[in-house]
Amino acid sequence: MNGEQRFCDFLKARIGLDVGSVGAPVVARAVAQRLACGVAADHDGYWQLLQQSKQEQVALIDAVIVPETWFFRYPESFAALVRLARPRLERLAGARPLRILSLPCATGEEPYSIAMALLDAGVAAPLLHIDALDVSPRVIERAQRGLYGKNSFRGEDLAYRARHFAARDDGYLLHEAVRELVRFQCGNLLEPGLLAEEPAYDLLFCRNLLIYFDQATQERVLEVLKRLTRLDGVLFIGPAEASLFSRLGMQSLGIAQAFAFQHPQEQPAPAPRPAPPSVPPTPRREARRPPAPPRRSSPAPCAAPPASAAGDELSAIAGLADQGRLEEARQRCERLLRSGSPSAELFYWLGLISDSAGKASEAQDFYRKALYLEPQHREALGQLAALLAARGDLAGAKRLQQRANRGANGDG
Ligand SMILES: C[S@@+](CC[C@H](N)C(=O)[O-])C[C@H]1O[C@@H](n2cnc3c(N)ncnc32)[C@H](O)[C@@H]1O
Repeated sequence: MNGEQRFCDFLKARIGLDVGSVGAPVVARAVAQRLACGVAADHDGYWQLLQQSKQEQVALIDAVIVPETWFFRYPESFAALVRLARPRLERLAGARPLRILSLPCATGEEPYSIAMALLDAGVAAPLLHIDALDVSPRVIERAQRGLYGKNSFRGEDLAYRARHFAARDDGYLLHEAVRELVRFQCGNLLEPGLLAEEPAYDLLFCRNLLIYFDQATQERVLEVLKRLTRLDGVLFIGPAEASLFSRLGMQSLGIAQAFAFQHPQEQPAPAPRPAPPSVPPTPRREARRPPAPPRRSSPAPCAAPPASAAGDELSAIAGLADQGRLEEARQRCERLLRSGSPSAELFYWLGLISDSAGKASEAQDFYRKALYLEPQHREALGQLAALLAARGDLAGAKRLQQRANRGANGDG
């Protein structure tokens, strides 16, 4: 056992951190960082301090957590949230607010995105009850401030920023009307009796936390999440967590790139892995669609079409796939490929179509080809990560997810 193992054990017991998921050096660095603050002379002294001081425990946890997050992370999940919320709100007819939980919420981008998505969909504020928890008091305090820098705004569509934020010299301040919709508090998902007094939630977001836990902790936490989610509720998770949920008996709603799950229904889904993107009823994210150029006559067969015609064709393929006309979509993809217009987008669609048909190996090859041509193709990274996770390759899934995150950060 090296000198840091006891700190790793402490972090595992307190917040579930599986050191293998972040690497031992991360823990060693956190301890060194605390020592550099002059709180103790050496590791033994620091260990003693940690046993006695709650404040120091919080400080070490703060030094080791990964509060990486941004607004509208996985945009499809927020579109799905709105679609799922509408009929529920109708059924509730104001009898009680729709209850939503974001845990872990980190610096608040996730619960605030929930609030903005629903407000933008025309839902009245009093019909919403949004709770948000994180183990770190430091990130909760930042969330409550509601002031964000550029790193919190990623992706192409930032229209929401103009609607809901005031630009200031030191960043963007979220309007109070949105801030006051979210109730923040500190909370540890491993704490027995967490939110025990609260009624279960209609919609629960628990994204990008379980990847830091070992399997036993994941299983324990899933039971907590099930308790916190109404029987007819929906749980949103991160892409790399999908296979775990399927394995533990949760049922995917099959909404592409939304990573939404429900309690097992009476007729459990036969598929052991998360449903591949169910192309038919799922509106794709418009931003990813190739721009629709003006219509033109079809190119001569087998002649490489000009880029705009290929864009036209990809739009048509997306449309067919969205309508569930997968065979036609595939044929058009293959025709486009034969015509000498391979592109990351084309391979991505071929991957999605194969994935939807349950052809996981074929889908994997297509996603890899997309990534060969465009290494940061965000959707291909996300889908391949989900696919690998579903096939049990959690390390591979995590690597891809990290790559996607690096790309979103602009440093990858
Ligand atoms: C990567 S962020 C995820 C934020 C957000 N859900 C998202 O996906 O964008 C992980 C967060 O989990 C929090 N966390 C770590 N262990 C926790 C625990 N045991 N209970 C509650 N929150 C925890 C960390 O403080 C960190 O803010």
